[in-house]
Amino acid sequence: MDSHKQNAHLLHVQDVETELLLEAIFRVYGYDFRNYNRAHIKRRIVQRQNQMGLDSISAFQHLLLRDKEVMKQVLKDLSINVTEMFRDPPFYESMRKEVVPVLKTYPYIKTWHAGCSTGEEVYSFAILLKEEGLDKRTQIYATDFNPAALEVARKGIYPISRMKEYTANYQKSGGTQSFSDYFIAKYDAAILDQSLRHNIVFAEHNLVTDSVFAEVNLIICRNVLIYFDKQLQNKVLQMFSESLTKNGYLGLGSKESLMFSAVKDEFEVVDAEQKIYRKKIQSAG
Ligand SMILES: C[S@@+](CC[C@H](N)C(=O)[O-])C[C@H]1O[C@@H](n2cnc3c(N)ncnc32)[C@H](O)[C@@H]1O
Repeated sequence: MDSHKQNAHLLHVQDVETELLLEAIFRVYGYDFRNYNRAHIKRRIVQRQNQMGLDSISAFQHLLLRDKEVMKQVLKDLSINVTEMFRDPPFYESMRKEVVPVLKTYPYIKTWHAGCSTGEEVYSFAILLKEEGLDKRTQIYATDFNPAALEVARKGIYPISRMKEYTANYQKSGGTQSFSDYFIAKYDAAILDQSLRHNIVFAEHNLVTDSVFAEVNLIICRNVLIYFDKQLQNKVLQMFSESLTKNGYLGLGSKESLMFSAVKDEFEVVDAEQKIYRKKIQSAG
């Protein structure tokens, strides 16, 4: 075989091996990555295989299926936990302007952060609610399928080195206080004000394999759907639609949209640029 053909053959073999690996992970460990963006998954798997000095995905699969610790590592590899406080400040600004005034008319509010990673997004929202006087009557559910990320989230301790960037984000997002009031600096750590946590429940939940979580007034699921293929995005969006109260809000990430999805007609657009939607009253569910 010439080298071009050999290369094409190897890529084809890796595609087949990746598919078999994802099937095996699902059967043995219950994590379902079969409908994640395949190119992204394959890149991560091959990286890990190389780091472990193995010469094929099949050899990697052999180890992975027998060693739970390897699976833990793969879960970390495949669940990109990149996040920050007040990420995309205009999103929070729009939440304050378009959504909060309506929430203020409710006696009790339930919100769900799906794919909350290490918690920075949830605490940002908790700060926003506190400043808007809604913290006492809001229950926040924050879920992720990665237990290691949730452990960090529960602690609410972040590197002090990131606070400068978060302060700038907070100010741009329409924050009304001094951001430094929300944490105590201790050595190289910023310990978030414990009172922000009182109405947050962190829980493990897999958007692919678990069912509807709770009935809520607002779902924030940002930068998670980008890792899913179209079919899986539709399935998860359908679940969100079922979890929302009539008139409930949905906030997605800047690169995500509801407009080309199967549930598009069940929602109206609140802020097209910030990807904030509202479930229509007349829709079923
Ligand atoms: C890039 S982070 C986004 C964090 C945060 N929402 C933000 O926008 O900054 C994506 C998160 O989605 C989580 N995730 C990926 N697949 C998931 C699934 N099937 N169920 C629940 N969480 C999932 C990952 O563990 C990761 O923490």
